[in-house]
Amino acid sequence: MVVGCTWEKHETMVPYVFTTVLLAAFPIFFSGSVSAHNHVPKDFFGADQHDDFLRWFDDNGDKYKGHEYFPTLADSSNGASIHWSIDDDDHISVAVAVRATGWVGLGLSENGGMSGSDVMLFEAAQPQNIIDAHLLGEFAPVVDDCQNWELIASHASESSDFIIVEARRLLDTGDPQDRFIVEDHDIAIPSTRLILAWGDSESVSYHGSNQVKGNVRLYNYEADDDNAFTALMDANADNYFEMRGENHPIKTIDTEYFQFCFSWDELVEGQNIPNTSFSVIGFRPILDQVEHLHHFTLFGSGKTMNGSPCEDYKDHLDLVYAWARGEVPTALPDDVGMTVGPSSYQSFRLEIHYDNPNLVEGRFDSSGVRFYYTDVKRPIELGILRLGDPIIALDGVSLGDGISEHTFSCPEICSRTFLEENETVTIFREYLHMHYLGQTMKNELVRNGEVVHTATVDFFDFDQSGNQLVQEPAYEVQHGDQYRTVCYYDNTNNGTFGYSSQEEMCIAFLIYYPKKSVLNGYIPWFCAMDAGFSPCEIEYSNRSLDELPRKFGTLPEEEECVATSAAVAATVSFSTAAALWWLTAMMALRAWI
Ligand SMILES: *[C@@H]1O[C@H](CO)[C@@H](O)[C@H](O)[C@H]1NC(C)=O
Ligand SMILES: *[C@@H]1O[C@H](CO)[C@@H](O)[C@H](O)[C@H]1NC(C)=O
Ligand SMILES: *[C@@H]1O[C@H](CO)[C@@H](O)[C@H](O)[C@H]1NC(C)=O
Ligand SMILES: *[C@@H]1O[C@H](CO)[C@@H](O)[C@H](O)[C@H]1NC(C)=O
Repeated sequence: MVVGCTWEKHETMVPYVFTTVLLAAFPIFFSGSVSAHNHVPKDFFGADQHDDFLRWFDDNGDKYKGHEYFPTLADSSNGASIHWSIDDDDHISVAVAVRATGWVGLGLSENGGMSGSDVMLFEAAQPQNIIDAHLLGEFAPVVDDCQNWELIASHASESSDFIIVEARRLLDTGDPQDRFIVEDHDIAIPSTRLILAWGDSESVSYHGSNQVKGNVRLYNYEADDDNAFTALMDANADNYFEMRGENHPIKTIDTEYFQFCFSWDELVEGQNIPNTSFSVIGFRPILDQVEHLHHFTLFGSGKTMNGSPCEDYKDHLDLVYAWARGEVPTALPDDVGMTVGPSSYQSFRLEIHYDNPNLVEGRFDSSGVRFYYTDVKRPIELGILRLGDPIIALDGVSLGDGISEHTFSCPEICSRTFLEENETVTIFREYLHMHYLGQTMKNELVRNGEVVHTATVDFFDFDQSGNQLVQEPAYEVQHGDQYRTVCYYDNTNNGTFGYSSQEEMCIAFLIYYPKKSVLNGYIPWFCAMDAGFSPCEIEYSNRSLDELPRKFGTLPEEEECVATSAAVAATVSFSTAAALWWLTAMMALRAWI
């Protein structure tokens, strides 16, 4: 039995703080279609009235090695298909098909949303043109100074229901108005985030659902992260347990936060988990009423909470799992596990943020998360290193007016304390976390005074990706390394640091193994201000800036692109109508992302 309760305004009641452990979602795969992935082109577009698409595919499909279809949530026959190949290690060829008569846009997205995306646009009215553009915010695209997409072919006519455009680009154009396409072959690396939108440009009628987002593993045509996860769990897990609601009636209000609580006894008796310590090795979100799910978070506590699981919710402060649209199952590396049971988490609180802007009645939701585990504890314990200001020592401190930079340096003595000489740990997921005023963030690893690794989010967007997973391969940290975590805010609203999502944070969460601690496990590896552990005392400084240090969207080096820019000015007349379409469709979608 699940005990539940609704709290209004939970943000002021439950600090959105990640205390000793965060085990976020490790979202490998950010997918608009959420569950079923379909790689069989004849089934794309709901296998419904898609002859024009099939005709194109029969003639051209084998030019492409990867095929993916992202249906809109509202209508599986309306969506976007993408077909692609990496050519000669330096180019990507892409074909995009949508059911539209006006225009289509494809974006390489940093945070899963519009801001900071690199977009390619095509208008049926100008069949000879392809437009290389970028998005600096949630407004119309800006045409790039350098046009890096080369149109291969376009297929659109008044008699066709589809626009299909084929184009080609360098993987790394060197242009700061383009995104570099990351080598994402290995499924341990987060895959590539795409957004697509389309419309019938002349028409003023409005189709807010003509937009999808999804992830594609551009360098790995066969990879299906969902199937790969299932196979791994079939092979390795002994069992699973679930923390989710049971037909929770979604309220007919715009925003609802609901708490579902799970005590240790309930899990042991109700779901037959071992009444002892065991290792969680994989996480699968269970998504029911997807269009009403905004996000959910699962917090753990070391207390059993038997009898009154939801009573002492303030004890459930460790964020153990977080889901936002598009996150998919995640398996921990071989031999690595997260311990549940006595000495670790024994109770959980799942908080689901439901959206119901259209006040739809009669919806019942059973979403949550499934934890796969092995009875035998895995030898390597998962650790979470928190950097920046993880204990919110700056609570109540003003950000300062305008654009400000806040730097948190973790001294090298800290890694010398937790790691033996010549010992290394592997960082396999890196998340950057701020709140609404956060604009840009980076986490630098410094070795012998030199930056040897940087994780960045140029365009942070709390609504899209409040915990920004950085697309990068795993890397190692050595004894003597130093971290520098830097957050940039634009303080338009008298902002201060604090616990609620209306206040600000600056935390980097690094999921790593093997877990490091001192004093017999009493102090896990961390770095913080005023935490009373001097080797790992953060050095903090701040200053105000005239502008954000964003690279994406800045002008390319002058000589690189003079000729192309001139050509662009002459040939590209990006229509305002299309820009407005893009904007309207995207803005509408935001309401339920
Ligand atoms: C779990 O084990 C403890 C200690 O042996 C015991 O007190 C408790 O009743 C057990 N819980 C359940 C649900 O079996
Ligand atoms: C930033 O630094 C200045 C001194 O350089 C200090 O007066 C101010 O309080 C600091 N701001 C914050 C948010 O700590
Ligand atoms: C660390 O590695 C260096 C170089 O291989 C070696 O000389 C040194 O003895 C090692 N230190 C320890 C404590 O193993
Ligand atoms: C800004 O916040 C401080 C501290 O919360 C408050 O005292 C002050 O009145 C606020 N100023 C404005 C202009 O809102």
